[in-house]
Amino acid sequence: MTRRILVTSALPYANGAIHLGHLVEYIQTDIWVRFQKMVGNECWYVCADDTHGTPIMLRAEKEGITPEQLIARVHGEHFRDFSSFHVGFDNYYSTHSPETQHYANTIYGRLKDAGLIEVRTIEQYYDPVKQMFLPDRFIKGECPKCHAKDQYGDNCEVCGAAYAPTDLIEPFSAVSGAKPELRNSDHYFFKLSDPRCEAFLRQYTSREHGVLQAEAANKMQEWLGDAGENKLTDWDISRDAPYFGFEIPGAPGKYFYVWLDAPIGYMGSFQNLCSKQGLNFDDFFKPDSSAELYHFIGKDILYFHSLFWPAELQHAGYRTPTKIFAHGFLTVDGAKMSKSRGTFITAESFIEHGLNPEWLRYYFAAKLSATMEDIDLSFADFSARVNSDLVGKYVNIASRSAGFISKRFNGQLAPADTSLPAIKAIQDAAPRIAELYEAREFGKAVREIMALTDAANQYVDSVKPWELAKQEGKEVELHAACTNALNLFRLLTVLLKPILPVTAGKVESFLNIAPLSWADAQTLLAGGHAIQAYSHLMTRVDPKTIEKLIDANKQSLAPTPAPEAHSQQRHAEHQQKEAKKETKAAPSPADADGLCTIDDFMKIDLRIALIANAEHVEGADKLVRLTLDIGEEKPRNVFAGIKAAYDPAQLIGRLTVMVANLAPRKMKFGMSEGMVMAASDPEGKTPGIYLLSPDSGATPGMRVK
Ligand code: 2FM
Ligand code: ZN
Repeated sequence: MTRRILVTSALPYANGAIHLGHLVEYIQTDIWVRFQKMVGNECWYVCADDTHGTPIMLRAEKEGITPEQLIARVHGEHFRDFSSFHVGFDNYYSTHSPETQHYANTIYGRLKDAGLIEVRTIEQYYDPVKQMFLPDRFIKGECPKCHAKDQYGDNCEVCGAAYAPTDLIEPFSAVSGAKPELRNSDHYFFKLSDPRCEAFLRQYTSREHGVLQAEAANKMQEWLGDAGENKLTDWDISRDAPYFGFEIPGAPGKYFYVWLDAPIGYMGSFQNLCSKQGLNFDDFFKPDSSAELYHFIGKDILYFHSLFWPAELQHAGYRTPTKIFAHGFLTVDGAKMSKSRGTFITAESFIEHGLNPEWLRYYFAAKLSATMEDIDLSFADFSARVNSDLVGKYVNIASRSAGFISKRFNGQLAPADTSLPAIKAIQDAAPRIAELYEAREFGKAVREIMALTDAANQYVDSVKPWELAKQEGKEVELHAACTNALNLFRLLTVLLKPILPVTAGKVESFLNIAPLSWADAQTLLAGGHAIQAYSHLMTRVDPKTIEKLIDANKQSLAPTPAPEAHSQQRHAEHQQKEAKKETKAAPSPADADGLCTIDDFMKIDLRIALIANAEHVEGADKLVRLTLDIGEEKPRNVFAGIKAAYDPAQLIGRLTVMVANLAPRKMKFGMSEGMVMAASDPEGKTPGIYLLSPDSGATPGMRVK
């Protein structure tokens, strides 16, 4: 019977780039979904950007744009990155959507009706300058335990102590630097401690119930405590204005906390897909639904997904998740991803450096299991495996046989040998490999597939088509050998297709066949079937490319990358200092009457510049790195604070105006050798930055005066 399945991956925050650490989850989910589709199940894969909360609000403000503009831009970037790694969402949406708001309001309303919402007054730190309540991460001060300075309001990065922000010594706002004041505010709580929630969660998260992996179920029992000892505490689901999110119905100035509407975003995205596809939402979300619901997540957000989320759904009259699949974190070369070591690699830079995304899909697949263990990306191992398994073994089967079929047999195959042991081995193994995919034991599946690939290569080695081709009167043997090899190759492609969808697509074109489904592992190509000419399917990993990738991720970063709140503060301080410098020291070309002479003006060498290249500067919030051609031997490197307004890709090839004789300035990210000219409203009433462009006919290097 066809199963109806809805699958989600965690919704990434809309204020940061997708990196290799994120990709573990999206690749894992995508492989699973592609497998489900290949076996013929009805399977929908939805995701969205997680768009609400204080960090996103402040970041937009810092960039001089609205939160809506920020999340629209990031949505484009995230979608581009996922697509480039062939993550095939059926819908990639946003939590800032009418559908998500509808379900957030509905769930909240039903929980309220069930008596599971309570309003309580709490005391919280307030920033009197910024006029906002401060989330813990935006309060800093001295650690009460080890006295390290500059620690966050929730825990100390030096000694690891966890505490309340009120425990910090000499706290200050990371947003404005002001001394925060304690103020009262009414907050809305979801009563997780209610006996109904507790009873439900004890059963739902138990090992026997099987929703959670064994390790996760154990963790939950720890959080729940022993029977009679209810350790669950109520959950604060509201935040005060100013906040970027959904206002709580009937509670002006109070907003749903980002984590309340994030998982509801799964419903919002699916509802949006239902409208587009004519699906019935309730079939999937009604309490007795026979459809299956799976959430792939990182182990760090287990608490939200196995306690809050199912309890909300259960008590708001919806179905609960069938299973929650948590995975571990990614380490690179045995250590946490690190910006200074160049191992904090974005999806974008991986692609920009010409690495094949299917290499990473294969490598992650080979490392993934159904557990919550961390997985390590070792670049030496990555190159060795891809080169040996995919290029040396798998692709090699086709490259050693296809040419002869085209050249010697007019592209037509002979009948396949149905009793060939290597063929039978694959057909027998297919159901077992299907079970491994289903169980998310991708590493084990890859090992089995590679053992079968070895057997296929042994067959080719034993019949030696390249030698048969040289011998007179061996046509029949050559034809049979190459036909068998291509059938083996096709069968292996079926097994690898969830991992390598693009290569499988190329194989389908070259073999001239319809898209492969899992059932095709039991069939063979008919005698007389004509194939297309073979062209190379995959190149080898060049270790030099990896070195460049790591170097590029190193070079473009600040030595001590600051977290969101910190960089915000540093940025504000920097601006203040810069402003002071300007008023005190900058020699003004203008006379006291505010006018400048033509001689003064002519000191400034303005030139038409061609933007030969433009790229993001990793770790810089505002800057774009421009390579400007003004007709000199060497192009100029200029950092421009225009990131909020321009996508670098759109700038390449356009002309603008630059100050060519500005003294070069050493910046954190390198030397800036000039300045581009852009318009902006000094009062900030009209947001935006507008780069100047000359009329057509101007060429690089022309003087502007
Ligand atoms: O941890 C995170 O990155 C969150 N944005 C994940 C949200 S998952 C779901 F609940 F929306
Ligand atoms: Zn400490």
